[in-house]
Amino acid sequence: MRTENHAEYAEHALALLSSDTMKRMTFSRRQALQGMLLGAAGMSLSLESFGQITIPPGEIRLIFNENPYGPSPKALAEVAKILPKTAYYPDDIEGELIDLFMERLRLDRDQLFLASGSNEGLQAAMLAFGKQGKILSPSLTYSEHLLYAENLGIEVERVPLRADMAIDLEAMARAVDDSVSLVYLCNPNNPTGMAIDGDELRSFCREVSAKVPIMIDEAYSELTDKPDYTSMVDLVRSGANILLTRTFSKIFGMAGLRVGYGMGHPDIVKVVRDHVMAWPNGVGLYAAYHSYLDEDFIAFSREKILQGREMVNSTFRRHGIEPLPSQTNFVCADIGHDADVFKEQLASRNVIIRGSYDDYSTFSRVSMGRIEDLEVFDRAVTEIWGG
Ligand SMILES: Cc1ncc(COP(=O)(O)O)c(C=O)c1O
Repeated sequence: MRTENHAEYAEHALALLSSDTMKRMTFSRRQALQGMLLGAAGMSLSLESFGQITIPPGEIRLIFNENPYGPSPKALAEVAKILPKTAYYPDDIEGELIDLFMERLRLDRDQLFLASGSNEGLQAAMLAFGKQGKILSPSLTYSEHLLYAENLGIEVERVPLRADMAIDLEAMARAVDDSVSLVYLCNPNNPTGMAIDGDELRSFCREVSAKVPIMIDEAYSELTDKPDYTSMVDLVRSGANILLTRTFSKIFGMAGLRVGYGMGHPDIVKVVRDHVMAWPNGVGLYAAYHSYLDEDFIAFSREKILQGREMVNSTFRRHGIEPLPSQTNFVCADIGHDADVFKEQLASRNVIIRGSYDDYSTFSRVSMGRIEDLEVFDRAVTEIWGG
């Protein structure tokens, strides 16, 4: 496309984007249109370099716990309508999304906040509470925000997992003293995939939150066997001294759009909100709003993820390995030898998984890809381990 035709082409493309045609477009036609727009703007960025849209041909990406079936097609069609309007700061889409959460989660406005991915909320909490004392965390857990805290000079105390790889709630309760400003838990935990029993966690929260605030990362909450039982949202409703974070990056398949949210006691929410840095990402929030409403897509994603999880579980079992009981979109297993070697063996077959975890060097984590990706994983494992 020659640049002098840009104005005419852009007019045509924008009309197309805002029309109903967009709703009927297949993914590849949309990709082609985006490519044409970039070309028309005289830019050389290829779609291949933008990993969220096109993973390198042949690569099986099972590393970041994404949902490759997302985003919701309905959300995409809605987003296409607002893209031409992004010259302006977003209006009240934040308020609309919060209204939706208030209605669905039965919470008040001051119990909710939004962030640029849940990671921003977690980091904001590190900033806010790290000033007052140390952060208490399980030894093996999601840790981007913990590393961020340590980079800022905040002390993080890590409590070892139990022998069965569960979070040791009793040891964590014992470790709480005046020097602790915040307790961090991830439920279900990443990378083990294991969920804490709802009643045990409720009684831990009741006891410990009387002394110190507890932040629970519920990034995979929608994927558990009994989400209402596993989530602590009922404690938020009753005014407990806790904060929960959730994300649109996992079951909603919107990791590239960066939207997360938090729910908690109004005092904690206010402090965390005051430390959030990003301004609202209007496109992401708009997509989040429509994804949240797309129940067909959510049910479809959950079904595919659970189907995939059973496939990966049986791949490990066929090779004599019992994976940890996952309630997430990834499976973690003690493979009995260096997980980095396994990762390299798979990488040489174009299957990308996580490498070892510091003190848990024989544990491998495999994220759910599409069903056909997991068939490739299964064949690659058989090539490596035989059988
Ligand atoms: C437990 C957990 N919390 C938070 C995040 C960050 O998610 P977000 O994309 O919402 O920042 C991840 C991402 O992998 C995660 O596994």
